[in-house]
Amino acid sequence: MDTKIVMVDENKLDKDIMQKAGEVIRSGGLVVFPTETVYGLGANALDTKAVKKIFEAKGRPQDNPLIVHIADVEEIEALVSEVPELAKKFMERFWPGPMTIILPKSSVIPDVTSASLPCVGIRMPSNIIARELIRAAKVPIAAPSANISGRPSPTDVQRCVEDLSGKVDYIIGGKICDIGLESTVIDCTTQPTCVLRPGGITLEMLKEVDENTYIDPAVMIKPEKDFKPKAPGMKYRHYAPKAPVKIVQGDLKKTIEKINKIVQNYIDENKVVGIMATDETMEYYSKGVIISLGSRENMISVSHSLFETLRKFDDEKVDVIISEAFEEKGVGVAVMNRLKKSAGFDIINV
Ligand code: TXA
Ligand code: MG
Repeated sequence: MDTKIVMVDENKLDKDIMQKAGEVIRSGGLVVFPTETVYGLGANALDTKAVKKIFEAKGRPQDNPLIVHIADVEEIEALVSEVPELAKKFMERFWPGPMTIILPKSSVIPDVTSASLPCVGIRMPSNIIARELIRAAKVPIAAPSANISGRPSPTDVQRCVEDLSGKVDYIIGGKICDIGLESTVIDCTTQPTCVLRPGGITLEMLKEVDENTYIDPAVMIKPEKDFKPKAPGMKYRHYAPKAPVKIVQGDLKKTIEKINKIVQNYIDENKVVGIMATDETMEYYSKGVIISLGSRENMISVSHSLFETLRKFDDEKVDVIISEAFEEKGVGVAVMNRLKKSAGFDIINV
């Protein structure tokens, strides 16, 4: 398949391009587009055949439901059977933005989109290109992250091109995604509200709307073999670069000492080691490929660069990646959730 790749400036939207891309969606094609979280791989959420193409292009397991993206709040009415008062409060506070709400689905949502679940995830992104695409398509857009299943989600259009060129009709490039981690997924089908996937909207922020909101305990622990999480996507090995990832967790000074020891051992075996460091710790490493995720004082900068850094280590063809850990509070919860999954829960405590 020929993939058309176009760059769009969100401050000067090219209406023609957006119109054409919208028509591609409406006629059953696949379009990659930027959002404020990660790039999405979109299709008409109401078209079974089109949605099936998403699963094929990504190599995504059929039992993993997709998030349905809307441009305006009113569009949710047709897609769900009920919007509880509490869900309305979350929507008012955090939409448009990086939050997905799970609600009981209406009959217009095909089984393939919700992976036959009785509920559906709805999100209204804040990214202008994403919103204009949905408006131009005149249909809600089902979109997972625009990566091959299992790989780190793309935050830069070049990574979408690497993974999906030749498999989709259209790739719209915008700027690098602000948040860099996928949306916070909250389940509003039951009370209290449960966070199924942590993201840029943190637990602390959600609690300002409903103080009983809690994070599904399954989010931060290694899944048992036959474990069935509430968000089916959370059971798969995810966000994985080609090289194995190991996390060193504990006191920062001890972490640096331990990482330096591990790095030396790998170098003695003639291996190329990547170190995922931070601005505060960079200077304490001298061997291997050292990349900083940003400052520990600014966890959004860390979340912004996590997936891209994992992919950079692949470009450098490292044999193994050693990462520092982060405190599990605020956005750090989402960062550690993705990092642990990318490492397959290979954690060394110091
Ligand atoms: O930020 C995002 O949410 C991005 C951008 C493109 O909007 N999309 C994204 O989609 O991350 P995806 O497919 O990579 O992740 C969707 C997650 C999965 O963990 C899935 O299991 C969960 O949301 N999910 C979707 N629908 C659900 C449902 N009905 N019930 C429970 N979990 C659901
Ligand atoms: Mg994904």
